Amino acid sequence: MSDTAGAGEADVHSVAAEALDAVRRSDDLDQLDEVRVRYLGRNGRLNGFLRSIGKLGDAEARRQMGQTVQALAERVREALEERRAELQAGDSDDEPLDLTRPAPRLRRGRAHPVTIAITEIGRIFAELGYAAISGPEVEYDRYNFTLVNQPPGHPARDSHDTFYIDDQRLLRTHTSPVQIRSMVQRGAPQRVIVPGKVFRRDYDATHLPMFHQVEGLCIDQGIAVSDLKGTLEYFARSFFGPDARARWRPHHFPFTEPSLEMELACVVCGGSGCTVCGRTGWLELLGCGMVHPDVLRNGGIDPDRYTGFAFGMGPERAAMLAYGIPDIRLLYENDVRFLRPMP
Ligand code: DAH
Repeated sequence: MSDTAGAGEADVHSVAAEALDAVRRSDDLDQLDEVRVRYLGRNGRLNGFLRSIGKLGDAEARRQMGQTVQALAERVREALEERRAELQAGDSDDEPLDLTRPAPRLRRGRAHPVTIAITEIGRIFAELGYAAISGPEVEYDRYNFTLVNQPPGHPARDSHDTFYIDDQRLLRTHTSPVQIRSMVQRGAPQRVIVPGKVFRRDYDATHLPMFHQVEGLCIDQGIAVSDLKGTLEYFARSFFGPDARARWRPHHFPFTEPSLEMELACVVCGGSGCTVCGRTGWLELLGCGMVHPDVLRNGGIDPDRYTGFAFGMGPERAAMLAYGIPDIRLLYENDVRFLRPMP
């Protein structure tokens, strides 16, 4: 390759341009292969520049020349691959378009499983007359805790692992503060759900520092525990299918009295016991209860005239149960191989 011996940068570029042109003008795979050998082969024209590098004076010039040749060779290699794919697919501009060839499969984007779950929960409660509302993610300590019966010093505050912003403000640890905001704004009667992000200092296979909750609140005259159970059992059948079975267990939350926990017969084993339900046959789904009279009062509603129920559920958990997702972190790694096959 004497024609490249001692050549400078300008020549490398013009040889590369020539190579790209030759790639473009190749009409079949044989021609393309000739071009590959002529420019990229061991004795090819681009390699010729590498061999001549030794003749360059200083080390810096040699280094630069080496990099330029590598980069240009890479460009030519890519162009060759593209052209090869085109020729193999018969996609050459000169060939007539074959309209009978099967079209490549279209990959459409889709909603994230948690978005699907929140949308579905919203749809079910909308049918029951619930309005979807929102509240601030940066919340006052007073709303997040004090007004829902957790005054300073209350032991339940510790379990929330709160991200504090300053003495008075924090990232809300649950959607329950929106109960107070909604009571103050809307009064009674009302039926609302509150989907939204919540934040806790937590991270393992079942906990994330940011996750979602859907709060529910129903206030009217004469609302009783039977309304709560009927509503949530209807929800469970709509969301998980007509065979969904629920059971109720006594619990404690500061803002409800009495408080209950709703469990679902395991969606994997149907209640006989497996690893998903820890061999109990049941899965915790949500917390709920009758709104505490003090909480109604904090929202400006007269507890002697009105009663209500509230609930809080995790759409991540609902999605994990519905789709059999074992680790909550999978939901947020954004690996499309995992997300794409979700129903
Ligand atoms: N706020 C509770 C939590 O984050 C969930 C909850 C339980 C909400 C019971 C409610 C309820 O409205 O009645 O752990």
